[in-house]
Amino acid sequence: MLIAVARETEANEPRVAATPETVKKFKALGADVVIARGAGIASGIPDADFEAAGATIGDDVTKDADLVLKVRRPSAGELAAYKKGALVIAIMDPYGNEAALKQMAEAGLVAFAMELMPRITRAQSMDVLSSQANLAGYRAVIDAAEQYGRALPMMMTAAGTVPAAKVFVMGVGVAGLQAIATARRLGAVVTATDVRPATKEQVESLGAKFLAVEDDEFKNAQTAAGYAKPMSAEYQAKQAALTAEHIKKQDIVITTALIPGRPAPKLITAEMVQSMRPGSVIVDLAVERGGNVEGARPGEVAVVGPAKIVGYLNVPGRLAASASALYAKNLYTFIETMIDKKEKTLAINWDDEIIKGTALTRDGAIVHPNFMPKTAA
Ligand code: NAI
Repeated sequence: MLIAVARETEANEPRVAATPETVKKFKALGADVVIARGAGIASGIPDADFEAAGATIGDDVTKDADLVLKVRRPSAGELAAYKKGALVIAIMDPYGNEAALKQMAEAGLVAFAMELMPRITRAQSMDVLSSQANLAGYRAVIDAAEQYGRALPMMMTAAGTVPAAKVFVMGVGVAGLQAIATARRLGAVVTATDVRPATKEQVESLGAKFLAVEDDEFKNAQTAAGYAKPMSAEYQAKQAALTAEHIKKQDIVITTALIPGRPAPKLITAEMVQSMRPGSVIVDLAVERGGNVEGARPGEVAVVGPAKIVGYLNVPGRLAASASALYAKNLYTFIETMIDKKEKTLAINWDDEIIKGTALTRDGAIVHPNFMPKTAA
């Protein structure tokens, strides 16, 4: 059983799909591991550290591999270098990319999308959305603090008092909760909003104040899977009226609102941006999915009227070493379930819900119900 860790080919992807720690664990399961030369450099892991953990370093690593680990979906150009029938596991970004999924199927690959991992207790340690969103939430506050021309904590000095910054977090999933906790640690006064009622208590337990339109629609906004539903136009109008007044008085706003498989909801209009005080900072963590903030520009810090709108892409990648360590561990715990420890071979249980939930392609076809061609689904 040969496991390959491929190099990331997309620009702006410094993460890597393995660490020396996970290499050691794969070796202990009886696998051989080959790492693409230099694959860990941008995450602070030199080839020598992978070698010391028992991996070999190679250049054409995918050609004989039974299992290929990546951060991002392999591009069309990479597929020819994969062995037919190989497993490939990555963050596949499948929504709207059905053509790319078809190419993987036609290349004979068995592809798994880590971000489709069911959110069940057993799979918590395999949940890449959580591991990466947690870091993004932290980094959003650090990036906001960097752009903000004032201090976050209140400081009482002989030369006068610096007031605490007011931070508003919109969307309190994994990223939002970490943003609240980080902003609180830095001494900011924090408020937060979400459409899922379960978040109110979570916000308050972190010492922040909750703000939302708490009507009947709000009470039913959480799906069985724990995600938000798209809200009605009426709700969004009420929500906008409430938050518009609040945003005027904030120094920093961090938005993280997402709805799985859909464009991000627009929460901050151009008018709301204009209403802010000079020097305000907005960080839009949803920018890759269409953005929560009007005027956010992917990959840039846009200066719009009185505010700076931070739209960095791949925010977990801005903490590449931490993000890689957690992602690699997510991969390892998932792959461990696919290996027969006695025989030291791959033994996938296709009836397991974590396999069914994440498998995209198999036997030359797309097999995930969300992405199958309409007639077959
Ligand atoms: P997400 O990344 O899909 O969305 C971020 C947040 O945006 C969510 O809290 C969502 O309610 C909110 N949102 C959506 N539309 C909004 C709007 N119009 N206005 C304001 N906020 C809006 O969410 P994430 O971080 O993936 O978490 C979703 C849920 O899954 C949470 O309850 C989380 O605790 C739960 N979860 C469960 C896990 C498990 O059981 N294994 C693991 C991780 C998370």
